[in-house]
Amino acid sequence: MSIYHFYFYLFFSSLSLVFSDHDYYQSRACCTFKGPDYEDIEYTIMLSFNKNFMMEFNSTRGNWTGFTPYSMDVAKHTNNPIEKAIREFEKKILCLDNRNAIRTIVNQTAAPIIKMKSVKQSAGGHPAMLVCSAFNFYPKQIRMTWLRNQKQVTAGVSYSEVMPDGDWLYQTQSYLEYTPAHGEKITCVVEHMSLPEPALVVWDPSLPVAERNKIVIGLCGLLLGFVAVISGLLYYKKTSASYTVFCHRRVLVPVEQLLAEGAT
Ligand SMILES: *[C@@H]1O[C@H](CO)[C@@H](O)[C@H](O)[C@H]1NC(C)=O
Ligand SMILES: *[C@@H]1O[C@H](CO)[C@@H](O)[C@H](O)[C@H]1NC(C)=O
Ligand SMILES: *[C@@H]1O[C@H](CO)[C@@H](O)[C@H](O)[C@H]1NC(C)=O
Repeated sequence: MSIYHFYFYLFFSSLSLVFSDHDYYQSRACCTFKGPDYEDIEYTIMLSFNKNFMMEFNSTRGNWTGFTPYSMDVAKHTNNPIEKAIREFEKKILCLDNRNAIRTIVNQTAAPIIKMKSVKQSAGGHPAMLVCSAFNFYPKQIRMTWLRNQKQVTAGVSYSEVMPDGDWLYQTQSYLEYTPAHGEKITCVVEHMSLPEPALVVWDPSLPVAERNKIVIGLCGLLLGFVAVISGLLYYKKTSASYTVFCHRRVLVPVEQLLAEGAT
């Protein structure tokens, strides 16, 4: 990382633009991996000045492209063999050398923590409502269903959206509205890639409240520590069946502005 920042510094200083108090540079360097074994790597750098997209380096093309008259001129002077060698070196240390670590992260799963509780008691002819929550899971795909006496319930079931829950992890809820009957058994079923078989949480109204909120804890402790370290360095943009992008982001603001902000 420090070598990389150093190069950026050199690059920026060679541009020798006038920096006013409110100006800032933003750079984003991304590694895009394609192929089942991540064998195909593309390294790109995007530079913006005050949110205006100015220049882009693309390792597949092997050169800088400018998008404004000024940056076109800069690109023309920057595209030389030395520059190309520097970018190749960056591609190696940022993308190639991190490939295995990134592949492992993308493959990572975190088992959901599952809790069930009553949000509405049945009263005066109104139905009761249970909520089954799953959180701290990865990847996003999850299936939650309800069973009543071992049979799947379809009526009175609703879901909240699957929401991000901190770095990398997701959470969601499923609600069941129902009229309680004596001696019945209500079960929340959660299916997720991290679980070898569906997790079943049975509602037991006879237990005291504290014990009712049954918790199924997965491997997330270990995973959380790992992710916290990595996400400081990498910004994970997108994963799909066909490609994965990891980006390093950086914003450069004038020192004067930092000092001014620090003083307030
Ligand atoms: C980089 O250039 C290649 C070849 O022109 C192109 O296919 C690819 O989409 C470009 N990548 C980005 C991120 O623009
Ligand atoms: C960059 O490379 C592409 C293809 O290799 C070429 O078409 C383009 O003109 C080059 N751009 C610059 C600014 O040199
Ligand atoms: C990622 O998961 C796939 C399928 O589950 C497996 O074949 C592959 O070996 C895993 N890769 C790593 C780096 O763990």
